[in-house]
Amino acid sequence: MSTLIEFLRIYPARSALMLICLIVAGTAEGLSLTALLPMLSVAAGDGSTGEIGELVLKGLAWAQIQPTIGALLLIIVGGIILKSGLLLVANRQVGYTVARVATDFRITLINALLACEWQYFARQRAGQLANSVATEANRAAMGFEFGARGISYFFQIVVYAGVAFMISWQATLVSIGLGLLSATLMHSLMRAARRAGVGQTELMRELLSYLTDVLRSVKPLKAMSRDSVAQASLQQQTDGLEDAIRREVMSRESLRALQDPLLAALAAFALYVALSWWGLSLPEVMVLVFLHVRLLGLLNKAQREYQKVMVQESAYRSLKKTISDAQLEIERSGGTMTPTLERSIDMEKLYFSYAKDPMFEDLNVTIPARSFVAITAPSGTGKSTFLDLLCGLLKPQGGVVRVDGVSLNDLDLRQWRRLIGYVPQETVLLHDTILNNVLIGEAEPSEEDARRALTQAGLWNFVFSLPDGVNTIVGERGGRLSGGQGQRVAIARALAHNPKILILDEPTSSLDRVNAQLICDTLAELSRSLTVVVASHHDLIVERADLEINLKTDVK
Ligand SMILES: Nc1ncnc2c1ncn2[C@@H]1O[C@H](COP(=O)(O)OP(=O)(O)OP(=O)(O)O)[C@@H](O)[C@H]1O
Ligand SMILES: [Mg+2]
Repeated sequence: MSTLIEFLRIYPARSALMLICLIVAGTAEGLSLTALLPMLSVAAGDGSTGEIGELVLKGLAWAQIQPTIGALLLIIVGGIILKSGLLLVANRQVGYTVARVATDFRITLINALLACEWQYFARQRAGQLANSVATEANRAAMGFEFGARGISYFFQIVVYAGVAFMISWQATLVSIGLGLLSATLMHSLMRAARRAGVGQTELMRELLSYLTDVLRSVKPLKAMSRDSVAQASLQQQTDGLEDAIRREVMSRESLRALQDPLLAALAAFALYVALSWWGLSLPEVMVLVFLHVRLLGLLNKAQREYQKVMVQESAYRSLKKTISDAQLEIERSGGTMTPTLERSIDMEKLYFSYAKDPMFEDLNVTIPARSFVAITAPSGTGKSTFLDLLCGLLKPQGGVVRVDGVSLNDLDLRQWRRLIGYVPQETVLLHDTILNNVLIGEAEPSEEDARRALTQAGLWNFVFSLPDGVNTIVGERGGRLSGGQGQRVAIARALAHNPKILILDEPTSSLDRVNAQLICDTLAELSRSLTVVVASHHDLIVERADLEINLKTDVK
């Protein structure tokens, strides 16, 4: 129920419009059926139409319509046609709203994710985030639809109950009471549905996270014949998911199966009471029975929709938690000053630690502009961390990073990063063309920039020799390129937007000596016009650099 209220609170206008459409459609049918009462009395030939019948007859007289069987039948059919038309509009509105809700969830989540601190991503499982955007957003939006339908049934119940109430309030109260009793009896099936939904949400999340991890490491797994273990585990999770779906089906179908006999029994009971205790006329009894069957039917439907909401609720909760967790980790935009890089970058008294032990306690480093700086140190000493601090991806707990004398905290961080060309330690390429891999994220992608960058990275001759040239698809994570070629695509990517500072993390780790030499030459050449900072163990880089900073020996 709280989920429903939450939905209504988030989408008041859309929910209201959707509900109005559904309710008007339901009401049109309900009202047209009140014409049944005088029709039955006309058919039965007795004059006792009861209060509501009188009202209908008065209404007809006012509209100058003769209450003949033909006219009344026309009213009923007309009402139902009207209802169908309205229902079409209403259902379209429901469909559009559900699509909008799913889109809103997705956009909110994607925006929240992209605005997060880098550290947040290091803790996340990519598959789980993808699952939230795809499956959970969809299920949450479906929950919204089921909830809205449930509420519209509720309003229809009110209309039917109102009509029935005018015919016989005692019978209506009995009927509603019995309906509520049946709903209470079925409550355990609601709980079962909710549990099945929670199971589905958890298993789906686990399955997609694990599957993504397995797909990423499928090559070594296959090479070592360890894929069968992963396969067995995925199979087990998929079976678990099927189990949860079966439990949902069981609770849903049990509810449906139990509702019908209960409905028949309650209708029979109401009929018995109406005929033998309250001595209503036959037309009144018939209309009453009709309304009660409809009323109880709607109660059942409302309950079934509510059960469906229960199944989807956990997806909504999980999605909401992912969104709010991400929003808590939103990266501060820094200051507003526009960065320049004419003189130097200075790290002063920098203190940084991931956990307990400090990585840097009192780091003091100067990187002159337009120089070629090599960052060296044994593996695990903090070279990548150093580069992340330079980009502002990590924030130091103490000290300051200054660019031309201005603290990174005062600079517009986005603008600062626009000055950076960054090559990560692990090459991550998209399953796309070489061109798109080079120009990814560029606001104004130009093929000319891509060609220049590929030439600078020493890859243009190779790309030119390919049958599809820059439009060659590189395969999943660049699997159709050699390691060295992939690395150079990544370097070209970093150069595509003409950065002022090039930050490279082990850019030659997949290159032979000849190609590493070529990259070194390129970097040395580039450092005449821009600042180049390279974390590397490679002696060639260290030899060519203007300055070597050894994080182990020079600065600790
Ligand atoms: N996100 C993180 N959370 C916690 N600890 C981390 C994180 N990233 C790195 N570390 C730890 O910080 C230390 C330095 O890591 P870093 O990647 O900076 O080393 P590196 O010098 O680049 O090593 P390599 O030469 O192997 O690339 C390592 O001990 C690593 O375990
Ligand atoms: Mg590293």
